[in-house]
Formats: sequence, C-alpha cells, structure tokens
Amino acid sequence: MNVCVIGVGYVGLVTGAVFADLGNEVICVDKVEEKINMLKRGEMPIYEPGLEELVARNVKEGRLSFTTNIGEGVRRSEVIFIAVGTPPRENGETDLSHVEAVALEIAHHLNHYKIIVNKSTVPVGTGDLVRNIIEKNKNNDVEFDVVSNPEFLREGSAIADTLKPDRIVIGAPTQNVAMTLLELYAPIERPMLITNVESAEMIKYASNAFLSTKISFINMIADLCEKTGADVTMVAKGMGYDQRIGMHFLQAGLGFGGSCFPKDTLSLIHTARKYGEEFRLLEEVIKINQQRVPRFVERIAQRLNPLNNKTIAVLGLAFKPDTDDLRDAKSVELITLLRERGATIKAYDPVAINNARKILPDIIYCKNSYDAAEGADALVIVTEWNEFKLLNLERLKSVMQQPIIFDGRNIYDPKRIRKMGFEYYSIGRK
Ligand code: UDX
Repeated sequence: MNVCVIGVGYVGLVTGAVFADLGNEVICVDKVEEKINMLKRGEMPIYEPGLEELVARNVKEGRLSFTTNIGEGVRRSEVIFIAVGTPPRENGETDLSHVEAVALEIAHHLNHYKIIVNKSTVPVGTGDLVRNIIEKNKNNDVEFDVVSNPEFLREGSAIADTLKPDRIVIGAPTQNVAMTLLELYAPIERPMLITNVESAEMIKYASNAFLSTKISFINMIADLCEKTGADVTMVAKGMGYDQRIGMHFLQAGLGFGGSCFPKDTLSLIHTARKYGEEFRLLEEVIKINQQRVPRFVERIAQRLNPLNNKTIAVLGLAFKPDTDDLRDAKSVELITLLRERGATIKAYDPVAINNARKILPDIIYCKNSYDAAEGADALVIVTEWNEFKLLNLERLKSVMQQPIIFDGRNIYDPKRIRKMGFEYYSIGRK
C-alpha cells in the first residue's frame, strides 16, 4: 500500500519505518527541512534504540523516503497518517494548530479517494474537525474518510511497541473504511478493536490518564509507607499479583514526566470541563505528581542543611531511560529547585546531555557517573538507566565528599547499599 506519514517525531518516524518494514511504500513528510535532511543522510533526529538500523534498511530497499513536500506525499498515497505534535496550551487545552494546518494542506492536494488517519493524540471531536477542514477546502470533488488510530508506543521501546502492541484501535466511520486499515495492520497479528471515531479518540486519553492515576496512587502509598514503616516495592508487588490490578505502572518515584502523561491528563480534565464536568480525580493526580520533586528536594535540603555551596551529583536527565527526551523531565524541575537553593550541580546522562545543555546551560556536565560523583556532598538518582544499577559502589564512595545517596527511583537494595557504608534515602522505604 502507498502510505504517507506527516510528522517525523517519535510516533511518525517509528510508524513510517515499521509500515515500510512490513512491505509498504512509505513517504515521510515534515516541514522542518533540517530533520528531513538528517534523515536523508541516515541520521536520526531522535534517539530511539534500533531506529537507525530499521530506517537504513528500508531506505536501502527503496520502501522508505523523506520529503518536505507534503503535496508529493499526499498525492501518491492511499492512506495518510497525521502524526504531528499536539502540545498543550497554558490552560491545559490541546493546541491543534499543527493538525489543522496539515488538514488544510491535505485538502489542497487531494487528487483521489484517500483515508486520512489521525495518529496524533487529539481530543474527542478532532476527527470531525479534520473532516470539516478538508471538506471545506478540497480543490477536487473527491471522496475521503477520516479515521482515528491512536498510538500507544512508549519512547525507548517504540519499535517493539509498534510491532507488538497490546491492541490496535481503529475508530472509523464505516466497516469498509476500517477494513483498509485492518489490511495495513494485518501482518502484525495483534488484537484489533474497531469503534467509532469518538471512542477511539477517548480510548487514548482514558488509557494515559488511567496509567497516570496508577502512578500517583502508588506515590501516595509510598508517602504513607515512609511514615508507617511499610516498603512500597513490596506493597506494589503484593498488589500487582492481583491480576485485576497488574504489576505495571506501580513503580513509586519522582512521578511521571514525558511528552504524554502530563499533557494528556490535563487535556482530559479540560475536555471534561468543556462538557460541563469536573474531573476532580485527575486534578488530584496532577497535584500529587507536581508535589513529588519539591517534596524530594525538601528531604535533600533537610539532610544537607544548608544546600548553599553544596555540590550535588545528578544521575539521569532524560524523563525516563532509553531516550534522550527531556520534555517534562523531573531532572529539570529537581535541578532548578536545587540551584535556587544555591547548590552546584554536576550531572551525567548516557544520551540526554546534548538536549539538556539547551535547557540547563549553567550546570556542570560530566563524562560518566564517577566524574559526576567526584567531590559531591550527595548523589541523586533521577532516571533509572540500567548502567546506574551496575555502578561500582566502592569506587563511587571513594570519590564522593560524603557517601550520601538520594534514590528517586528505588534502584538499589537499601540493606546492601547501607552495608557498603552509604547513607541511603529512597522513596516509600524506611
Ligand atoms: C506513555 C504511554 O505509556 C504510551 O502508551 C503513550 O503512547 C505515550 O505515553 P512514554 O511517555 O514514552 O509513554 O513513557 P512511559 O514509559 O509510559 O512513562 C511515562 C512516565 O511515567 C515516565 O516519566 C516514567 O518515569 C513514569 N513512570 C512510569 C513512573 O513513575 N512509574 C511507573 O510505574 C511507570
């Protein structure tokens, strides 16, 4: 099938590369020339394990190409995926200006029947909005349909998630239209759910908001564990064995960040408000999440009192492991608060340092964990990269000014690390 993917962010680029790998002819479009030029040179504009190889293979075999010319992409394709950014506005509402602009461009280049698929995370009603824009602005009297096909991939495991999703959701106006999408996804052989457009749009938000709720819930339990002597990792395990609850997304820590959970949860609150409902549960989920880092910083400050003139090593800058993404990263919030209190920051991340420099220009960037820990009064774990779990703790201790660890992701065994002479503070464990 001839497929066009508009937007080469995480969702667009991974979707395009995977569809090409499944044997389709895919053209990826982006208006940012720099990104398209990078892709043409075989360089990835984002860090995602396995992506570079996947793209290279499909470009070489002639199934995947890149262009800034949206007209070219639209005209030659039967199915067009919209995978552009949908950032939040100040009030939590989703900014749909990129989606609207793309819909307008599609309208101008519509030359025969096409299916336009919303893959970006967009609020309920956006399918209608896109349909109306195209209907009003199309140059030719051709038919088209608009489908919602939300994406559930996670950064860091995006390719595996796309090839083996828990489910594929297709929100289509008719069974016939859904069949075309089913055909495209058929080689993946995963559970498929066909719904109307509105339900598909809602499924994405309901899923992300529910997972955010799970995280804030376990974080509140963690706070209670600290006060009562319970251990949140055991509590989460004990809960997770109940199949109705499940093990996933019960990892207590500094809270959720990234480009989806904070924005999608806020957007659902906003949608509820638009329809006259107050989604107080989700308002609380956000509030709990916003308190995670200030609460942790308070603990650090109490122990190191004062923070002024203290050097703190921060391990992990990306919002989660296996990505270089710092959007809504807890590291940025934590470092900003520590610096406001006069601390000097030495930071290390395996892949996110280049991106971090743009947001946090005034901290010291280090070449590895030991370099960051050198002379530090305390070390803070912010992102649970695997390499931090396997550090040589003897060496770490020997280079630090004082052996104090604040572990925001519970990556160490408290007994073992204390036995090695560290003073150790984690989340939800005494
Ligand atoms: C998320 C959804 O999982 C994915 O389905 C959707 O398509 C996009 O948003 P992503 O943002 O890439 O994916 O990361 P995810 O692994 O879900 O983690 C989100 C945040 O939650 C991270 O900051 C992570 O540290 C945090 N988290 C996750 C926890 O604090 N505890 C957990 O148990 C799980």
